[in-house]
Amino acid sequence: MTLRAVVTGVGHYLPERVVPNAEFEKTLDTSDEWIRARSGIENRHFAGEGDSTSSMAVAAATAALADAGRTAQDVDAIIVATSTADLTFPSSATMVQAGLGMTTGFAFDVQAVCAGFVYALANANALIASGQAKRVLVIGSETFSRIMDWTDRGTCVLFGDGAGALLLEAQEGTGTPADRGILATDLNSDGRHKDLLYVDGGSSTGTTGYLRMQGNQVFRHAVEKLAATAQTAMDRAGVTAEDVDWIVPHQANIRIIQGTAKKMNISMDRVVVTVQDHGNTSAASIPLALSVGKQRGQIKQGDLLVTEAIGGGLAWGAVVLRW
Ligand SMILES: CC(C)(COP(=O)(O)OP(=O)(O)OC[C@H]1O[C@@H](n2cnc3c(N)ncnc32)[C@H](O)[C@@H]1OP(=O)(O)O)[C@@H](O)C(=O)NCCC(=O)NCCS
Repeated sequence: MTLRAVVTGVGHYLPERVVPNAEFEKTLDTSDEWIRARSGIENRHFAGEGDSTSSMAVAAATAALADAGRTAQDVDAIIVATSTADLTFPSSATMVQAGLGMTTGFAFDVQAVCAGFVYALANANALIASGQAKRVLVIGSETFSRIMDWTDRGTCVLFGDGAGALLLEAQEGTGTPADRGILATDLNSDGRHKDLLYVDGGSSTGTTGYLRMQGNQVFRHAVEKLAATAQTAMDRAGVTAEDVDWIVPHQANIRIIQGTAKKMNISMDRVVVTVQDHGNTSAASIPLALSVGKQRGQIKQGDLLVTEAIGGGLAWGAVVLRW
């Protein structure tokens, strides 16, 4: 018998305020055309006064629980992937636990920047496969608008806020790729590249800091590493590119998404794309895309999905799962 971590619910939350590219033309030397052409982004949502990383995570988790027909009392563990926790500590996950009214189980954050959701899924899978938890809420939630340098046109036009959540439940599988649930994971990092993408604040400065990025250098690593990690995860799962119904990539830049799909020999009509509407929401982007992809009628039960992401660290990875 193989214990599989099966997605039984999905949900998301997007803040009300939608910011089109044209907004940035008022304060920066940039244009809607430049942002669309270089990134594929048209709009992004920015958190309002009442929104926080933890409040958005609670909203997304509540939607995922409703989708699964479960309550917070059914959950054993909460993992929140975020780089924009409300406070340095406690973890966002414990705040979500309280927000959901859950007084049992355990909760913790995973910090792997834009790869955070893939890391969180791998952790949830390990908890379920080892029998330590039966039901795990895995949430990606970010308020990157609060760590932007609004004078830096190379970064502030690219990011957005939002949250997405999955409920994963232990179910018995056969150990074959026909099983529903997570079939394989692959995680990587290489700290030598820490200066390509970082926030210049923390305990070393006593400030929150702002996001700094050498965008073209990150780009250079992205396609190659994403295609490689996706291939490794597919090999481990015993599936090939032809078997894949959907790639659900981290939504950073349409050119990275297209380049990776091409390298994987998968056509763009098998890729869930939301970057035009959300911008880069870091660890929230994959669960947001999963939730929106399901709402659109793209992702259906039984579909074979590959998620892949790369971000600061550098950290990157992929998960193969059957929906
Ligand atoms: C950021 C990114 C869109 C920039 O595109 P690019 O084609 O690499 O552009 P470059 O950074 O080489 O900059 C080219 C020029 O555009 C300018 N530029 C940067 N941002 C701009 C903006 N918003 N509007 C207009 N011009 C801009 C640069 O200043 C530069 O001008 P220069 O040649 O006069 O110095 C692209 O590098 C990218 O998407 N990288 C990956 C970033 C990413 O996804 N990070 C998150 C990973 S999780």
